[in-house]
This record gives sequence, structure tokens and C-alpha cells, in this order.
Amino acid sequence: MATLLNSPPRLDPSALVRPGRVHRSVYTDAEIFRLEMERIFSRAWIYLAHESEMPAAGDYVRRHIGSRQVILTRDRDGAVHAIPNRCSHRGTTLCAFDRGSAPGGHSCPYHGWNFAADGRLRGVPQRSNYEGVLELGDYDLQPVRVAAYRGFLFGTLDAEAVPLVEFLGHMATSIDDLVDRSPSGEVVCSPHVLRHHYRGNWKLSFENLNDTIHPGFAHSASVVSAKAVAAGLEEGEPLAASLGMMLANGKPIQFFQDLDMVTTPRGHSYIGGHMGASYTADTQSAYAQALIAHHGPDKAARVLGTDRHLMLLYPSSTWHARYQTVRIVRPVRHDLTEIIGYTFRLPGAPEETYRNAVEYCTGANSAASPVIADDLEVYERIMDGNGFDAREWVPMSRGLREDREAVPGLTRSPATSEAFIRNQFAAWADYMGAAA
Ligand code: FES
Ligand SMILES: [Fe+2]
Repeated sequence: MATLLNSPPRLDPSALVRPGRVHRSVYTDAEIFRLEMERIFSRAWIYLAHESEMPAAGDYVRRHIGSRQVILTRDRDGAVHAIPNRCSHRGTTLCAFDRGSAPGGHSCPYHGWNFAADGRLRGVPQRSNYEGVLELGDYDLQPVRVAAYRGFLFGTLDAEAVPLVEFLGHMATSIDDLVDRSPSGEVVCSPHVLRHHYRGNWKLSFENLNDTIHPGFAHSASVVSAKAVAAGLEEGEPLAASLGMMLANGKPIQFFQDLDMVTTPRGHSYIGGHMGASYTADTQSAYAQALIAHHGPDKAARVLGTDRHLMLLYPSSTWHARYQTVRIVRPVRHDLTEIIGYTFRLPGAPEETYRNAVEYCTGANSAASPVIADDLEVYERIMDGNGFDAREWVPMSRGLREDREAVPGLTRSPATSEAFIRNQFAAWADYMGAAA
């Protein structure tokens, strides 16, 4: 008879999370992955796109909610709709492109059924064949629930999901942080996207990004190189974003011990900023003036004084306001994940702010990054290591007794803590157990 530890994945996923540890099968089991798609990615609000990616009527983007594809299209009245990318005739995917324009609606490539932006079946060729047989309205595509927060569009497959602002909670302030950095009050998503895949589970990415202990080890080679480059800089020369990131990876552990980590319900978190990258003096001055003109001096000072590192918006995306980037973490299979990095322009801000953001996004999301390559190798090694039977449980107990402050909706811990991973698995167990 199978032991309890070998059998629960198919019986009770919430039994795989214990205080301070998690069962290794959450990373390696294809059935667990299937349940995650059904119970987590079908219930949470998933980040999909920014409104600026569809500026004109008919513009669309193709995105994912878990394993399902959706098409977001702007209609003639300016509203954005999301519909399944699946023809209601024989199930063919309607759209094969990540973005484009379809002012005449989405036509299926198989038999030509045509759907409006909101999913309405507008017409079928050779209609007479269906006389008295088919009502068009019976084959409309059911729109996916979409909500926007300051121009950022999220979707959920759960009609009962809490309102988006409640899902975001305190983390909405990190989105505010990004938008408020624009002297025009608008941000514009660049069409230039950086993406890579890794052979590992999607959760490994969420567990890595604000893990401040690993950089000194996993990224030590690029830290040595970055220190050599920095030593050659002129006095006062600005620090490029990716160089700042590599140098920060070499900061002493005590620095990160003193830094704050904030975790909030539903698995979200961020840590304090620590990269120290800078703009030229001219850019700093022009940017500050532009922000003062938009916000007034007090708010402009607050915006420029805010420095948060990655906000992890569980389970779909990570955000860095200071570097104007959003990254989608897209689960493909239990052992395959796609990372898609988007960069935002701040209209009205000096061009250097955008170049700086692109430079950061390249260092953080490009397959050619000397930093990311280390993480991707570690993810693959974790998948290999957790395929063995000998040790069932993976600890996530670092800093378990070190939380600094807990108020309703927010806990503060040292940035060296694995509190953010425990918080992710608390949400994971809630989502996964709720339907058990
Ligand atoms: S499968 Fe789409 S029209 Fe036939
Ligand atoms: Fe890393």
C-alpha cells in the first residue's frame, strides 16, 4: 500500500504544506500542476496587459490565464474585452499572434466563423446549411471577467472572485508607485518584449526573486565582474541599472538582514529597494522638475523617495516600479515556465529613464543576462534534485521567528527571511484546499 506521503497529491494538496516546509511534489508532479491551473489560476486575478498595448479600436493582444489563452480586444466604443481564444465550432484557436489589429473581429481559420471583440458570434459562412439548426447566440464566446487598476488589466475565470482592488490590497501602492513616476500620469507599454523559458516549475521563479541570500552565492561570478567595472567609473558617473543589480548582489548579508520585507494576504510581497542605480545629474534635475509640475513638490519628493524592489503579485507577475518593468510568470507545464518582461515609458520624463528601464529589463529578463543564467541553472538543478525519493520535505523556515511587525493585512520581516515563500504557500494551500 502506498504511504501517506506518496499518495496525498491526488487526494489533498493542502496536506503538502506544513509549517515551515513543503512537500517536494509541489514542484515535480504533473497532477499537482493540473490542479494548480484549475484551482489557483482559474480563481486568482491574473495580470494580462496594459491598456496602452491596445490603443485603437480592433487592437488586440493574446495572453494566458493559466493554461488557457485569451484574446483582449478594444471595441469601437473604447472598451477592452477578453474572450477565450477558442472557436465555438470545433475548438480551433482563433488567433495565432501575440498582438495585432482585427477591426473586423476574429475569424476562425478553419471554417470562417467570425466573432466580435466581446465574443458575439457575428456570422457563419454558408448560413443556409444551418437553417433551423443553429442559433448564432448559442455559440457566442463567453467573455472573461476583466478589471483595470490604473490602466493595468487583470482577468479572472472566477465569477465569484473578490473585486480586483481587494485582491491587490496594499500591493496596489506598488502599481501607484509605477504610474505616479510618470510626469504625464500615463505609462505606455513598449512593444519590445523580452522572454525566456526555463525547464522548471513556475513557483521556483516566485521563490527566487526576493531571496536575498542566494545572490552572494549563485551570482558571485557577476558580482566580481561588476566590482571590476565599477572600480573603473569616473567620480559621479551614473551607475547603470544592471550594474547596480550585480553590485547589490554582492552586498553583505547584514545589509539584507536590516532591510524590510513586506508580505500581504493572497501570497503577495515586496522588499525594500537596494540597487542604488542612478541617472545623470541633468536627468535627475529635469525629471524632478517634470514631476513637481505634475504632482506638486511634496508628492514629487515622495515619489522620488520611494524605492521598493520587486513586488511579487502572486501568482502571475512581478513588478519593479523604479525600473518601469513588469514580468509575467507563465506556467506552461509542471517543468516548463515562460518569463515575459515588459518595459514602460513615462511620457514627459527624460528619455534616459526609459533607457535605464530597458537596461534593467535586459539584465533581469534577457536569456543573455549573466545573472539570470545562474538562476535558470539552479531551477533545473532543483527539478532534478526533487525527483529523488529519499527526502520528501523542502524546508522554508529561514527567519521563521524573526517577523518584525504584523498588523491586519501586512507583515514585516527581515529581507533575508523566507517569509515571502511561506506566505506564497499559505495562499497556495488556501486556493488548492478550497475545492478539495
Ligand atoms: S472550427 Fe472554427 S469555424 Fe470551424
Ligand atoms: Fe537570482
